[in-house]
Parts: sequence; structure tokens; C-alpha cells
Amino acid sequence: MRKVITYGTYDLLHYGHVRLLERAKALGDYLIVGVTTEDFDRSRGKINVQQSLIERMEGVRATGLADEIIVEEYEGQKIDDIRRYQVDVFAIGSDWAGKFDYLKEYCEVVYLDRTEGVSSTDLRNETVLRLGLLGQSSNVDKVLREAEFVNGLQAAAVVTGEDEAAYDEMLEHVDAVYIYSHPSRHTRDIKKALLSGKHVLVETPVTLSREELHELQALAKSRGLILAEALKTAFSTAFNRLVNLIKSGKIGQVVSVDSACTSMENVENVPKEALSERWNSIFDWGPTGLLPIFELLGTDVKNKRIISSIEKDTVYDYFSKIDFVFPRAVASTRVGKGVKTEGELIVSGTKGYAYVPAPWWKTDSFEIRYEDMRQNQRYFYLLEGEGIRYELVAFLHAVLTGRTTELIDSTVTEAIVGVMEDYCAGKDLTVLEGEE
Ligand code: CTP
Repeated sequence: MRKVITYGTYDLLHYGHVRLLERAKALGDYLIVGVTTEDFDRSRGKINVQQSLIERMEGVRATGLADEIIVEEYEGQKIDDIRRYQVDVFAIGSDWAGKFDYLKEYCEVVYLDRTEGVSSTDLRNETVLRLGLLGQSSNVDKVLREAEFVNGLQAAAVVTGEDEAAYDEMLEHVDAVYIYSHPSRHTRDIKKALLSGKHVLVETPVTLSREELHELQALAKSRGLILAEALKTAFSTAFNRLVNLIKSGKIGQVVSVDSACTSMENVENVPKEALSERWNSIFDWGPTGLLPIFELLGTDVKNKRIISSIEKDTVYDYFSKIDFVFPRAVASTRVGKGVKTEGELIVSGTKGYAYVPAPWWKTDSFEIRYEDMRQNQRYFYLLEGEGIRYELVAFLHAVLTGRTTELIDSTVTEAIVGVMEDYCAGKDLTVLEGEE
């Protein structure tokens, strides 16, 4: 029996795929098709595959051409598969010409002509979500850049200032908006977008009040729109894997979560009235610092204390430390724009601890450490575009499917907003005395 093997993503199965499989099958008597996992695709830079692995495998199965379907999940697996299944022929489309010649050591390698005029990328691009961007910051520039990597998403317009008319006009020409206005304006900007029937991706914190958050969430729901929080760290592979590893008991029971996020901003010459318009430490870094705390420990906070160094008569904090007591753990985050410290994340458990080096909020690696150092393990992942690219993909998927599972959980969003609200209201807040 002559065994043939071929591999692919097979997203949104199309005629080109079917023709490829037919010709591959004709090269022998038994066809094995390797379908790639989301992870493997991500690691090779293919980030916005629309269908799940199961759906894609089902698509291949439905062609009736595959005698066996396997999953491709790691680099170098082809060699293992060819040996394990005693494959005679490796076949792949001509877009890969020459790339798999190294397999000639193990079997025959055939490149089949690719079918012209059709591809999953084109199909994904068929329905384009036009995204308008509101705000002026390096984040907006980053989102603009990262949107180019996401099939099916097109950054269609940017409004930088606070020009209401320009925002209104933009809303007429887009399907969704990314909002990076000052947090005190979010509610107004989000409401406007939702009332015009547009999906919203808003930079965290979504609002500065729980009540407003609930109102906006209800409005989005009643109109069938997505209201998503943009907090790039939540979408990075390393951070997600870290959370899952810890939740599955890798370091025992979590006893303490400690994070720090700082950057330096020179506000010396900024007049006091203008300071409140700035993103202070707690608005800018707070949500990021709080993310691992609420993700790992939940939101059942027994008590908390916010200690801030605040410019008198403003809401501008140069530095804040937020401490929490949970039923069985404690947590703390330090955030600052006028203080510099090591931006690391440490999660302490009863068996070991997780160490994420600075800057932990855009890391591609972390280490799980134990008393017996020989058991320490390092984990590495690919991080494209600081997580913004994945954030956009998750948003697009939510808009296309209505499923919000890839987005930040609403309990975490609410807990973050709650801290912001309490800070603004002076609740649980201790203000450090300034210099005389
Ligand atoms: N293929 C083909 N003709 C096409 C598209 C794909 O012969 N028009 C072949 C590829 O060469 C590969 C297999 O089908 O051998 C699976 O390809 P896959 O990467 O899943 O499909 P694409 O449409 O190329 O996907 P994308 O646009 O995401 O790269």
C-alpha cells in the first residue's frame, strides 16, 4: 500500500483544498491529512484562522478524501509522522515549493500546483469589518499597525482630537470603533457608538463607574453589539498559559499575587488643570496590574487599600499601591508614572512560584520555580504585536460569531472598574503626604 501524507490549516474549506486533496490521494492508495492546531498556526504567524480545529477537521472529513486525519501541533512533527505512519509520499501545494525538500531523506516529496484564484485568506477578507479609531496616543498607532495583520479587519478611519462632529462622521462609515479617549470620556464615546449600532473595543478601564458599565453592557446586549475591553496583556499567549498552568495547580494553592507596572512621564511643566486630563498611574497601569490578581484569585475581595501619591487638587497619582485581602490569599500591585521599579509579576503558591520578568505585561516567557531548583521550568511563547494583534483577532471573532468567550470576562472588567471608581470617590484610599 502506498501511503500519502499532506498538511494544511483548511480554514473555511474551499475548492482549492479539495482539488489538492484529490490529487494527493491519486498519488497513492491511502491519504493521511494533517490539520494544524491553533497554537501551531499562531507559532508560525497565522493568527486569524476563523474555524476551530474540530470544525476544520470536520471540513476535511466531509470531503470523503481522507483515510485518516491527524493533528499537527509542533514544528518538526512531519518527520515523526512520516516515520510513524511509514509514509511513502509527502504532498503539498506549490506555494511551499522547495520548503520541504528536507523530507526527501524520509520519503518522496511532491509539490502540486496550487489552484489559482482561491485561498482561505481571500475568503476571510470577504467580510471586512471596518474599524474606526478614536484617540491620540502611541496605542492608537499600534492598533493601526497591528490591524494590518488581521484578515477581515480594516482600519478605515482615525479621529484624533475631541472633535465631536468628526467622531459622528466616522461612526457613519465604520462597523466598529476602537476607543482611546481619556477614561472620563469613555461612557459618552461608547454610548454614542453603541447607539449608532457600532461594536466597541475600548481601552481599559472601560468606565470609571460600575453603574455606567452595567448600563453600557445592557445597551450593547439589547442591540446585539459587542462591547469589549482592550487590555493587550490578557490576549498574550504567555499570560494565558501562565494563568492556566497556575489554575491547574502547578504551584499549589496561590497565596500571593504581586505585580508592578511603571513608566516615567514628565509632568513637571504640565499645569494643574491639565493634569486631570492625563492618564494617571492608576488609570493607565492599574487595569494591567490588576489583571493577574482578578484572573487568578477571582473577584471576591474581602478588603482592599489603595495608597496613592497624588498631586494636590487633582486625580493625578504619581504612584499607587493597591493591596487586597481575599479569603485565602493576598495580592498587591504597584503602578506608577513618576516612580520606577522592576516591572515583574510574582505569583506565590504552596508548592512553588511563578516568576515573570520585566516587563511582564508584554512577555513571551516565564519560569515556574521550586525549592528544588532542578525542577524549575521555563516556558517560551511567541508574542506578536505586544498582544494587540491577538486582541484584535478576539474582537473580530466575537463580532463575527457573537461568542464572547475569547474576550476578557465581564467579572474581571467589573472588578477593575470598581477599583477605578473607588479611587475616584476616595473609598479605601490613603493619600501619601507630599513634600511641604
Ligand atoms: N491549496 C491549493 N490551492 C489553493 C489553496 C490551498 O492547492 N488555492 C493547498 C495548499 O498549497 C496546501 C493545502 O491546500 O497544500 C492547505 O492549504 P491552507 O494553507 O490550509 O490553505 P490556504 O487557502 O492557502 O490558506 P491561507 O490563505 O490561510 O494561507
